[in-house]
Amino acid sequence: MSSDRDSSEERESFPVDRTNEELAPLPEYKVAKTSSIDFAGLLTTPLKLHEDLKSGCGGQLWPAGMVLAKHMLRCHRERMQQSRILEIGAGGGLVGLGCALGSDLEIPMFLTDQEEMFSLMKYNIALNGLEEKVLPRILNWGEPLTQEIIDFKPDIVLAADCVYFEPAFPLLMQTLKDLLALSPSTTVYFCFMKRRRADMYFLKTARKAFTVTEVVDEDRPVFSRQGLFLYTFTKK
Ligand SMILES: C[S@@+](CC[C@H](N)C(=O)[O-])C[C@H]1O[C@@H](n2cnc3c(N)ncnc32)[C@H](O)[C@@H]1O
Repeated sequence: MSSDRDSSEERESFPVDRTNEELAPLPEYKVAKTSSIDFAGLLTTPLKLHEDLKSGCGGQLWPAGMVLAKHMLRCHRERMQQSRILEIGAGGGLVGLGCALGSDLEIPMFLTDQEEMFSLMKYNIALNGLEEKVLPRILNWGEPLTQEIIDFKPDIVLAADCVYFEPAFPLLMQTLKDLLALSPSTTVYFCFMKRRRADMYFLKTARKAFTVTEVVDEDRPVFSRQGLFLYTFTKK
């Protein structure tokens, strides 16, 4: 376990955003449905994704998840095959399940989120026949990592659209620090949509704690116009 866990008093305080500046809208709330997604032809077997908001906002597809999944499938298929992969804030599992379908994983990966999302993650894993390759787990940001995750020592951490709720920023930052402390070679792939000015404070805080690198991706001219950012975080 990382010895540099912050006490709740010491966790970074993020400035409260009082501007109410909406740069990009939250996705519209939709009725429950199951979609088929091939990530612009990157999957030969399309992902079946059930979306249902009754468990929370993670129950629907978010734009950063599409960008991150496409990037991973386009640029990291081979690396993913032999990697220990963990997704945080996985929601219904769009990114992790897309990666598992498109890469012949030798090590089962973890999809993690809060308890409310557990049944949807499990449902979507089964919907795609990925029970052997993808394991659902509860991981609440800010809480100490379980022994199972500590022993797993992920070398790829996926995080899509986890920056959207300011009170959770210090908790998210703590979990990222804990995960990056497990192994010197861990890479966090972090994609988010800038909706409010405070979202950039999150990035500023991340730059103090980690090496933050903007990722080169052929879709960047398009997704950056939509307010989406894709970075890697590695240990300093
Ligand atoms: C906007 S959704 C993104 C879902 C998915 N990554 C995607 O891109 O489609 C954010 C996710 O973060 C999860 N989340 C929010 N606060 C959390 C916390 N404190 N601990 C763990 N997960 C959290 C939510 O349950 C939700 O599934």
